[in-house]
Amino acid sequence: MDVLDAVSSRFSCRDFLPTPVPEATVRDILAAAARAPSGGNVQPWRVHALAGAKLEQLKACVRARPELLPRGEGAEYDIYPRDLKEPYETRRRQVGAALYQSIGVTRADRAGRYRQYARNFEFFGAPVGLLLSIDRSMGPPQWSDLGGYIQTVMLLARGHGLHTCGQEAWTHWHKTVYSFLDLPPDFILFCGLALGHADPDAAINQWRAPREPLDAFASFEGFEG
Ligand SMILES: Cc1cc2nc3c(=O)[nH]c(=O)nc-3n(C[C@H](O)[C@H](O)[C@H](O)COP(=O)(O)O)c2cc1C
Repeated sequence: MDVLDAVSSRFSCRDFLPTPVPEATVRDILAAAARAPSGGNVQPWRVHALAGAKLEQLKACVRARPELLPRGEGAEYDIYPRDLKEPYETRRRQVGAALYQSIGVTRADRAGRYRQYARNFEFFGAPVGLLLSIDRSMGPPQWSDLGGYIQTVMLLARGHGLHTCGQEAWTHWHKTVYSFLDLPPDFILFCGLALGHADPDAAINQWRAPREPLDAFASFEGFEG
């Protein structure tokens, strides 16, 4: 698959087949993704890859405490700014509406929304769950580098015929994750990443999040051709 196809075929997959992904494939993806650039080449990413019984154990920790949903242990960072301003808030609302509509969950169906949200903590059925963290001393430039690493993982996954979904939702279970991974206190969990084979028939995988037209966010000057 060339890079153009990898970019255009990537989407946030929220239902996976149980088909396992070999450790060697995950290692290939995570190692190759480290070719992602980072300011000063500091490479500020830390990844934990879980599968099999270990992944089941983590999922069971969250599953055991459904009464804490949706807030879990409380987010460790603001996933969005407190007052998400326009046009960002509208985009966020629209993508949420499209997601729930795809699975027939109405706005009034709070239980249905929680049920879907809880699927985050099953890694949407993916056979591999990645947890991505970064040293707490790092600032916005290094968080941006981590984002570049994550996007590279997502595109390399496409090269292996796999799909992914980023999962900031995992910050709501950061304490559980820290003790489960025995992560040193100088690291902060950014997100999870579900990795596996997409279920091509799942309703939730049928829609695509829209994007603003190019001229809404880019301007061009001085070109001659
Ligand atoms: C870092 C990151 C974290 C995300 N966290 C979640 C999440 O917790 N749950 C979820 O369902 N989607 C999550 N998403 C997916 C976004 O909602 C999705 O990327 C966006 O709506 C655009 O859709 P697309 O990825 O299908 O193009 C996350 C994406 C990124 C990049």
